[in-house]
Amino acid sequence: MNWSNDMSDNAVTNHTEATPMAEIIKTRLNRREVVQGGLTAAAGFLVSDVAQGQQDPIVPMQPGLMDFTPLAIRNARGPWPSISEDYEFSVLIPWGDPIVPDGPKFSYPPTPENQEQQIGIGHDGMWFFPSKDEFNESRKGLLALNHEFGSDSHLLGKGDPESLEDVRVSQHAHGVSVVGLVRTAGVWQTYDACEARRIHVNTPVAFSGPAAGSALLQTPNGNAPAGTVNNCGCGVTPWNTYLTCEENFQGYFGATNQRSTWIATDEQSRYGFSSGGFGYGWQNFDRRFDLSDSGYRNEENRFGWVVEIDPYDANQTPVKRTALGRFKHESVACAVGKDRRVVAYMGDDQGNDYIYKFVSDEDHVKLRHEGKSPLDEGKLFVARFDEDGTGEWLELSVDNPVLASRFQSQAAVVTYARLAADAVGATPMDRPEWTTVAANGTVFCACTNNGGRSQPNAANPQAPNNHGHIISWVDSDMHVGTTFTWDIFLLSSDTHATDARFADPDAIYVDPDGRLFVLTDGEQRSNMTNQVVVIDTVTKAAKRLFAGVFGDEVTGITMTPDRRTMFVNLQHVGGGDIRLTDFPRLGDPVPRDATIVITRKDGGIVGS
Ligand code: FEO
Ligand code: CA
Ligand code: CA
Ligand code: CA
Repeated sequence: MNWSNDMSDNAVTNHTEATPMAEIIKTRLNRREVVQGGLTAAAGFLVSDVAQGQQDPIVPMQPGLMDFTPLAIRNARGPWPSISEDYEFSVLIPWGDPIVPDGPKFSYPPTPENQEQQIGIGHDGMWFFPSKDEFNESRKGLLALNHEFGSDSHLLGKGDPESLEDVRVSQHAHGVSVVGLVRTAGVWQTYDACEARRIHVNTPVAFSGPAAGSALLQTPNGNAPAGTVNNCGCGVTPWNTYLTCEENFQGYFGATNQRSTWIATDEQSRYGFSSGGFGYGWQNFDRRFDLSDSGYRNEENRFGWVVEIDPYDANQTPVKRTALGRFKHESVACAVGKDRRVVAYMGDDQGNDYIYKFVSDEDHVKLRHEGKSPLDEGKLFVARFDEDGTGEWLELSVDNPVLASRFQSQAAVVTYARLAADAVGATPMDRPEWTTVAANGTVFCACTNNGGRSQPNAANPQAPNNHGHIISWVDSDMHVGTTFTWDIFLLSSDTHATDARFADPDAIYVDPDGRLFVLTDGEQRSNMTNQVVVIDTVTKAAKRLFAGVFGDEVTGITMTPDRRTMFVNLQHVGGGDIRLTDFPRLGDPVPRDATIVITRKDGGIVGS
């Protein structure tokens, strides 16, 4: 999420000490020499000075990896998306479309009753779950799709909700959609899937793991746990369930005017709670989100988790997996590590916050046979990046003497994971957004930017970091070890003299052939809109594939198993302002966030 929340993400609530400046600069320069040397040798980012009319350099990429004609800078801006001439796109499931074909049609503004049967707003992370009929797996399936946020002005046509009914519209537009998709005569559309459902802010949910049953997740009112909010990035488990990540949950809470004596606790401050929140105004009509209502004390602890959803079972209760910690979860990238243990890599998207991983204690198949969730049985770690290019995963356990003095239980450690990570000396990062794991085991993480950084560290060498970077690492012991080696994969600014210039990497995905898809969220160079750039992870050669529309963010990425169809999302198109874009051109009074279907004209693998 950027847009209205950018200030909040850049705001630093982590006041932990960092490494001394002189040391850092020396190390940073050494590391940059190494990085630049690698780039020069590969020539992937050698200067192509478009402004001076010079020709593109001969970019060495792995043969056949990325043969498409890149989208030119001059074509990458406008009120309608644009794409490489070798590709085509179509628009699917805009906000407000029914989740099954005969459901209620879009009307503006929506009613709460209709909105909970319609696609939500703020399309973000998503995953395509193929049909279990393998002959149809790349032409039919279920799409699980996050709805991160929609401003009151976009959703309701007014600056603030004026009734509980308005709040319900907003709440029902957040969360997750599961929709059935089928490709018929080359066109993707929804079908009447029995698995189709909406999960939103008032849907019953369950907790599992160390904090389940803890007093920290109970309210004095005894209201049952419900809902998921600000669903940003996502992940998929090895057992084919969907993981949705709760990011800026704190922005939906506030303190009502009548009770303005509310003062944040240390824990609330570290998570960024404030009396006004992001201005959604839910607290004025729904006491559950009123931080000053003592009956709902701890309600805020019920958000900020990774939530597991079985897309194939419409009756399953979404489960918040507390062993993965509570923070502003961006996305989660799962890998199967040594001994078939499941590993989950996660970023906490805030200026100077951390990168985490979870490792299951045992073989995930064995645990599931025993009726246990591998996401409940394991350890949580946070990353410390050292200046010599190595790093350590620091365990967040109440058995750690550093944490035992402050936290009374593992429930408290995971509920206040940020404070535990502060105490063990994790490395403050430049807003870690999505992570993705390559077939060779390399993990990539997009550090989108950090305008608030005043002091660099080796892993975040720019202060301020206005355009972001991508960091990579390889864990010891096939993902399950506690040490790793790391490198700066690239600085966005390294691309700025090339045709493939971009800034603010956010959603990233590496495919099995080693193409890294980078989706951006922020102000791009040369007045471009946000975009999809494809990078060869071996040579670092890059090409622009797609660009969105004015005021949007391009986010969320998934493919069919044959990789002939890719889905990406356009979020907060035009910032909700029809004067910037009328996307998706359906004659409505406001622009509507939607999914974009991308295919190669020759039917080839997307990205090739
Ligand atoms: Fe929801 Fe940090 O992006
Ligand atoms: Ca972002
Ligand atoms: Ca994001
Ligand atoms: Ca508002």
